[in-house]
Amino acid sequence: MELHAVGDPAELARSAADAVAEAVQARPDAVLLAATGNTPMGCYAELARRRFDSSRLRVAQLDEYTGVPESDARSLYGWMRRSLCEPLGIGEERIIRLRPDGDPVLACRSYDATVAAAGGIDLAILGLGPNGHLGFNEPPTDAHAPTREVALTEASLESNSHYWGDAPIPERARTAGMTLISGARRVLLLVSGAHKADILRRVMDAQPNRWLPASWLHLHPDALLIADRAALGDRARR
Ligand code: GLP
Repeated sequence: MELHAVGDPAELARSAADAVAEAVQARPDAVLLAATGNTPMGCYAELARRRFDSSRLRVAQLDEYTGVPESDARSLYGWMRRSLCEPLGIGEERIIRLRPDGDPVLACRSYDATVAAAGGIDLAILGLGPNGHLGFNEPPTDAHAPTREVALTEASLESNSHYWGDAPIPERARTAGMTLISGARRVLLLVSGAHKADILRRVMDAQPNRWLPASWLHLHPDALLIADRAALGDRARR
């Protein structure tokens, strides 16, 4: 995984937006796999500020809490639409949704089939979970884990609870699998902030393994880690 070290979140947002714009220039109907979470929000805002042709761009959802409808403000689909799709004029017909309801196996299978029919993922935009997860590929996750419903780990429940206020956080979620993520033609892993320094160091130093799902990206032929000074800690000074 190649490292691009940046100074701060603003620079991270610009670098990530450059990579997205490049992918869209190369292929106007590119399929993006788009994370929610705080980390990519600067990139999405930067993309909305730029002038580029997003009229054919398509977006696939990375993960979703089970049972949470779009009308709920905490739906990840809703968050993705508000932060990325609506500002870029990407309507529902160009969004590949990972549904929160219905039979989980069928919902995940239908999502995978729709991504495959769209030609696969051109660029995956990912954040790093506090336990090394990607999407909701919780440890342990095998390199070839499929798109599926999972039980969230304590670390994920805790780190996501602040988005939920007093309401109980759902304990299950659906996530694009490692197979789908690893199959993306290009992967961007965005990491920002001192609170990610420890987990980022562990991912960077690890041999690919199931206990740190993000470490599977070391095997990807075109994975770019964009991390800011705070997240890189000591490594930023080397
Ligand atoms: C969440 C999501 C991921 C996200 C990650 C990091 O649990 N499932 O898709 O990338 O954790 O979130 P943040 O960017 O807010 O740190």
